[in-house]
Amino acid sequence: MPIAVGENDGVTGDHYFTPTPGSAARPREIAFSAGGREYALASSTGVFSADRLDPGTAVLLRKAPLPGDDATGTFLDIGCGYGPITSVLAVGAPRVRVVAVDVNERARALAEQNMATLGVADRVVVAAPDDVDPALRFDQIWSNPPIHVGKAELHDLLLHWLPRLTPDGTAWLVVARHLGSDSLADWLGGQGFPTVKHASQKGFRVLRVAAASR
Ligand SMILES: C[S@@+](CC[C@H](N)C(=O)[O-])C[C@H]1O[C@@H](n2cnc3c(N)ncnc32)[C@H](O)[C@@H]1O
Repeated sequence: MPIAVGENDGVTGDHYFTPTPGSAARPREIAFSAGGREYALASSTGVFSADRLDPGTAVLLRKAPLPGDDATGTFLDIGCGYGPITSVLAVGAPRVRVVAVDVNERARALAEQNMATLGVADRVVVAAPDDVDPALRFDQIWSNPPIHVGKAELHDLLLHWLPRLTPDGTAWLVVARHLGSDSLADWLGGQGFPTVKHASQKGFRVLRVAAASR
């Protein structure tokens, strides 16, 4: 039975955003293609969408413009999980540095392992959110954000990171329509972040969010 976006992994009883999953790690591999490349990433019980590429993440990687050889700067992946978005950014854009944050330490360990396997660990920092230098600014932010933490916490999370976009920076977010993508878009606009519904597919919206004007 495929795992739906936002559900826990159905095996351990841990929520995917548990900082320290209590269950034994059961390794598995997730294979997918994005941007014309094939990926085979290590995953495990106790992390979000442990058994397959999350369908929302798949929509984000299909519909948002993936950076390529010409891209430069520092990108952020909020809630990196085992690292599917970070992998695609780091492999597809060899001049970009990526900061990948997650509260789940098992997810961070898997993301680090995957970056080493892909040979991009020298350009990717996987960190707990509180360990990121507050002075760092991001040219792009990518996220399949943790909707199930609740609206207030999600808003806090976005208000923590989005002000760190560079003035010309862009954030690409994917949110399920039934989990409030359109009201989130309205809320972001109301907070001063110009937000466009960039694409829709399979019940997900990809939002393009610009930096707030100062
Ligand atoms: C919807 S999942 C996406 C995971 C991964 N990017 C993917 O596409 O498979 C959201 C992730 O956010 C993480 N998360 C929850 N609260 C967070 C927070 N306050 N800061 C950073 N990450 C958080 C969860 O542990 C989870 O891995």
